[in-house]
Amino acid sequence: MDSPGSSFILRHFDESDTLAVRAILADAAVAVPFFGRVLPGDQLERRIARHWGGGPGAPERRIVACVVADGRLVGAGLRRGAEIGWFVAPDWWRRGVATALVRRLCMDPETAFAQVHRDNLASIRLLEKLGFRFAGLRPPPRASFEARARLRYAVPAASRRT
Ligand SMILES: CC(C)(COP(=O)(O)OP(=O)(O)OC[C@H]1O[C@@H](n2cnc3c(N)ncnc32)[C@H](O)[C@@H]1OP(=O)(O)O)[C@@H](O)C(=O)NCCC(=O)NCCS
Repeated sequence: MDSPGSSFILRHFDESDTLAVRAILADAAVAVPFFGRVLPGDQLERRIARHWGGGPGAPERRIVACVVADGRLVGAGLRRGAEIGWFVAPDWWRRGVATALVRRLCMDPETAFAQVHRDNLASIRLLEKLGFRFAGLRPPPRASFEARARLRYAVPAASRRT
């Protein structure tokens, strides 16, 4: 696959990568902006199985990619339909990993969009840098302590920067 930098490679996700995904998503620095809070172990397991495990109930159309540095998975991204999501291990932040993932997830010719919590400044800046623009507010689906309004960012395929 792509080789976006000399220090890491982008490759397809493999189900054996789920352990590494779990370790990154259990880290509060990643979990809070990604989920809105640190998930208890059982909930994290269910989300990983649903989104990353490929088992029954897994989204039909998805593209998953991950970034490996020194033999270790340090970031991963998922696309379901037009919606994309991604995360990076904190010790690899600010080294272009998310940029490589988002570009990979946007290679599909359809319009892509992402939903981010409104206080997730890092992701908002990243998306704007890659040509995404604010496209509306998605209110929390239900009242709960973790529910926070999400901002929807979208980019038409034709105007996407590469
Ligand atoms: C947001 C996140 C994915 C960024 O990953 P990353 O690999 O560090 O991002 P990059 O190195 O590709 O940075 C690209 C741009 O994003 C912006 N950015 C990244 N981290 C930032 C930060 N802490 N503060 C402000 N802007 C930031 C910058 O514009 C940066 O460009 P620059 O380095 O030239 O200034 C990472 O912080 C993360 O995993 N966060 C938790 C999970 C999450 O929020 N996922 C997205 C929601 S689906």
